[in-house]
Amino acid sequence: MTPDDPDTDHTGSHGDARRRAIRSFVVRAGRMTVAQERAWTELWPRYGVETGGGLLDLAAVFGRDARRTLEIGFGNGESLVALAAAHPGRDYLGIEVHRPGVGHLMLRAEELGLANLRAICRDAVEVLQQCIPAGSLDEVLLYFPDPWPKKRHHKRRIVQPAFTTLVASRLRPGGVLRMATDWQPYAEHMLEVASACESLSNASPDGGYAPRPDSRPVTRFERRGQRLGHGVWDLAFSRT
Ligand SMILES: C[S@@+](CC[C@H](N)C(=O)[O-])C[C@H]1O[C@@H](n2cnc3c(N)ncnc32)[C@H](O)[C@@H]1O
Repeated sequence: MTPDDPDTDHTGSHGDARRRAIRSFVVRAGRMTVAQERAWTELWPRYGVETGGGLLDLAAVFGRDARRTLEIGFGNGESLVALAAAHPGRDYLGIEVHRPGVGHLMLRAEELGLANLRAICRDAVEVLQQCIPAGSLDEVLLYFPDPWPKKRHHKRRIVQPAFTTLVASRLRPGGVLRMATDWQPYAEHMLEVASACESLSNASPDGGYAPRPDSRPVTRFERRGQRLGHGVWDLAFSRT
């Protein structure tokens, strides 16, 4: 193990008893640009959503009751910003743990004058559990989540049976979970886990992968996958 190895992710001297919950991310030190620092100071009051007080009133967060999309792990926010700009009649909430990425998203939102976008900077699993009301979302996007390719790290993949059940419970009936990955073994895992979720049904009539939705903007991680010669697998599941 190295200091960077997430298997060392524990609290220290008390061993297993105080081991942290398994998380799907390792917070990177990633340096913030001056502009991103400014975004955190000046734009967080406009675009940021503080959590910790239990369930959010999403209509109050956006100041209206419109169709709502949640993106989990938005990275630097490319897809969320493009979607929010293309659909001003809908509302977009993003959750990301990487602070420079949240700063980047806020800068783009300001440039484009977006009023229908908000961000939360925290573990999405905790946010879904504690802050997002049941049946409150029309769409959940999970694009290019960390694939955790090593076998001993598979437990860190965000897509797990408990996760798909949790996401499904936050979707309204008929709402859609869309996922994409450039890592075939993770695509197979996603298909297996989502297909086994009793409250989700595969929107692809053949029970396999979905066509690439026209609505999905190309992101940095997708471009990286393309450069590496990876394929891309899309999945779409509706809440039953
Ligand atoms: C491989 S990147 C993909 C980013 C973006 N979706 C894209 O396509 O460019 C995965 C992102 O998910 C974030 N992430 C992973 N687990 C998360 C969690 N539990 N809650 C919030 N963000 C998470 C990471 O910080 C990282 O930015």
